[in-house]
Order: sequence, then structure tokens, then C-alpha cells
Amino acid sequence: MTVYSGLGDLPLFNLDLEAGLPADVVRFHSNVAAADALLIASPEYAHGVTGTIKNALDWLVGFEGFAGIQVAVLNASPRAHHADDALRETLRTMAAAVVEEASVNLPLLGSHLDENGMIESAEIAGTIGDALATLDAAVLTLPPRRNTVYPGDINQRAEDG
Ligand SMILES: Cc1cc2nc3c(=O)[nH]c(=O)nc-3n(C[C@H](O)[C@H](O)[C@H](O)COP(=O)(O)O)c2cc1C
Repeated sequence: MTVYSGLGDLPLFNLDLEAGLPADVVRFHSNVAAADALLIASPEYAHGVTGTIKNALDWLVGFEGFAGIQVAVLNASPRAHHADDALRETLRTMAAAVVEEASVNLPLLGSHLDENGMIESAEIAGTIGDALATLDAAVLTLPPRRNTVYPGDINQRAEDG
């Protein structure tokens, strides 16, 4: 599993940039295209998803490496249903396959659990483990995506010489 830490590096979505995509967008696209599935979790800000998440999703609208990809949505604050609903609606609109059985609510708000605390919590670790196993099983029902090469993949082009 890879945690993609470059969402904050993406420029604000701008259709005018599509003719010559910035390197950070190409890197993001190639990581998505190479992924078997995506796990997305967004805090709720003013009843919506964060601008960072929405901006990242906007860069994936119409991107062929995203269409049909299986996605699990993790909601770390069960009271925050607006962002969760909005995220699912956006993903459905973008032709992602939301795997409902792997999309779970985690009662983390106010728990002050760090990563180790989550691992030590039987409830939280169990819920996440079950969600990952369910997503894995859903992925195995489809042909592998791993070998997908996005034409804009700078790393692949470098390897190809
Ligand atoms: C700008 C801003 C807006 C927020 N809006 C909402 C909201 O509409 N609904 C909600 O349930 N929580 C809202 N929150 C709380 C966050 O979703 C999140 O639960 C809180 O920041 C705790 O995050 P942490 O677990 O990373 O500490 C907001 C927080 C911030 C900073």
C-alpha cells in the first residue's frame, strides 16, 4: 500500500494546463494509473470535502487511468456525513467504482489516537483490516491494472530510453 503524499503539490486545476501537464500532475496521474485501487479519506470542512481533495479529483476527471478504478471511502468522523456523501457523489460522477462494503466509518473524532494507537485498538484496526481485505477481494475480481502505462509517465519514458 502506498500513501501518496503529493496532493498538496498539485497546482489548482486549470483546463488550460492540459496541453502541457505540470510534472506534479503527471506524477499523480501515473501513480493513480498504476494503482489497483484507491483509498480516499477526507476531513469535512464546512460540510464539504477539503479543497485539496477536490482539486486532486478535478485533475482526474476524464483521465483514462482513473475511469473504472475501485475506490474505498474512509470516513474518520461519523458525524461528518456531508463530505462523505459529496465524495461518493463526485466519485460516481467520475465513473469510479465505489466499493461500498470496503467504505467504512471510523469513530476517530476526539479519540486522539495516533497511528500506533489505531493499530492497538481492536475496534479501529479490525474495521480497517476488514475494509482492506474487502477491497483486496474486489480488486481480485477484475483484470490487473498494474501494467497500465500512461503515455505521460515520465518515469516510464525515462526507462524506455
Ligand atoms: C476549516 C474547518 C472546517 C470544518 N468543518 C467541519 C464540518 O463542517 N463538519 C464537521 O463535522 N467537522 C468540521 N471540521 C472538523 C474537521 O472535519 C475535523 O474533524 C477536525 O479538524 C479534527 O481533525 P483531526 O482529526 O485531524 O484533528 C472542520 C474543521 C476545520 C479546520
